[in-house]
Amino acid sequence: MRVGRLIGPGILLGATVLGVATTFTACAFESDFRSDSTVFAPKSPPSFDTPLPIPPLAESEVVDGVRIFSLTAEEGASEFVDGVTTTTWGYNGDYLGPTLRAKRGERVAVDVTNDLAETTTVHWHGMHLPAAMDGGPHQPIEAGGSWRPQWRIDQPAATLWYHPHPHGETEEHVIRGLAGMFILDDETSGSLGLPTRYGVDDIPVIVQDKRLRSDGQFELDSQGNEIGLLGDMVLVNGTWGAALDVTTELVRLRILNGSSARTYDFALDDGRDFALVATDGGLLERPFSTDHVRLSPGERAEMVVAMQPGEETMLRSLPPDLGDVAAPFAFGGNAEFDVLLLRAADALEPSAPLAGQFAEIERFAEADADNTRTFDVQNREINGLRMDMDRIDEVMQVGSTELWNVTNRDLFPHNWHVHDVQFQVLDIDGDAPPAELSGWKDTIYLEPRRRYRIMMRFEDYVDDEKPYMIHCHLLLHEDEGLMSQFVVSTDPPGRNSGQDAGSSDGHGH
Ligand code: C2O
Ligand code: CU
Repeated sequence: MRVGRLIGPGILLGATVLGVATTFTACAFESDFRSDSTVFAPKSPPSFDTPLPIPPLAESEVVDGVRIFSLTAEEGASEFVDGVTTTTWGYNGDYLGPTLRAKRGERVAVDVTNDLAETTTVHWHGMHLPAAMDGGPHQPIEAGGSWRPQWRIDQPAATLWYHPHPHGETEEHVIRGLAGMFILDDETSGSLGLPTRYGVDDIPVIVQDKRLRSDGQFELDSQGNEIGLLGDMVLVNGTWGAALDVTTELVRLRILNGSSARTYDFALDDGRDFALVATDGGLLERPFSTDHVRLSPGERAEMVVAMQPGEETMLRSLPPDLGDVAAPFAFGGNAEFDVLLLRAADALEPSAPLAGQFAEIERFAEADADNTRTFDVQNREINGLRMDMDRIDEVMQVGSTELWNVTNRDLFPHNWHVHDVQFQVLDIDGDAPPAELSGWKDTIYLEPRRRYRIMMRFEDYVDDEKPYMIHCHLLLHEDEGLMSQFVVSTDPPGRNSGQDAGSSDGHGH
């Protein structure tokens, strides 16, 4: 049963899943997976009775009109499995970090201190902000050092997050525990019937799969898996087997896939519908009723679940449809996990009904494009090039709207994340996007061999020196170079290098 270990020791998995894995024992992929007697095999499945921990809201202080937060990256220890102590990293604590929260229009600053023994960064994933404040590989914070980015919140209400982005080391820093949510509010987000009481009916759900070694420490090695390490314990807010006590008729789950490689398909185990209300960059135009939502690493979705008094339902991850990949089982395509038990109280506080309409999303049309680019993702390259910190790959002209053709040319998973902007999916192989891709996105899963046409606008923050990043958010791929750099400039759009420089550039009209 060597392949079985790849998708877990079987404890969380049904017999069907193991059965499928067994039939592949002899296949060619087996040799990709290191034989590891060191894998820590949890003795029993979690009983889903640990109360879900809620990351605290970060304290802040407003000085001269700037809301100032403080984050310290530090080492600590956590106990994910009874009696097993794991060295972990966190912000202002042992594991993960507090939830930052700010309102559109506010000026914010974050005093970041690095108490780790190595260089890290803090990137504000999904945030529209100047490149110098972005916290990518060009804003390193040395061991013992500090950094104070400051910017104005200038985008709609959304569930964003923050995590390290050091060149080549992101996977390790995130697996060790550095990540947190950054919730944005706006003028209307409080008045749409959406649950908004943090930790009561508005719940952060940070989902990460982990694997522990026999010494109790995090497995950091990808074990030969092409997409990176797939863990066998699915933690929510740092807890394996957590239960949320629901006290209101409607509960809002802000789900963040904070995993390094795994894609999930979130559903409720009784198949009930929920309202999908928001994706990466904010609210959908209206609530969309569905029974599942697929999230690849870095993506977010907000769901509102209706509960009856006294009942229970399990947030589960079903086997995700990964598209036309060569061996779905090798990439988690057969894996199912219980994630979070929702346990309703015997009497529930009434919740307001959800508004029928949330936001007006002005749709980009193909004719709006000032410039078109094509990005082919293959192995660890974008258009044949790996990340080079000293090379600016793309120049976006400030004030312009762009249309990009993005294709995963491999037969294994990749996804696509763009800094600075939120984009819209125009179509996928010519078809209109599904509801979960109909709103603002900063990260999308790329099913192999499909053409995703996405559009975005580069409004402001000209800086010819400091780049933003575009990359695959499967962190192993990102670290291995599946990333490129762009600047926003007053110069005309262009490509400074790349194989077909000029071929797809130039003004559309
Ligand atoms: Cu969530 Cu470039 O990162
Ligand atoms: Cu990738």
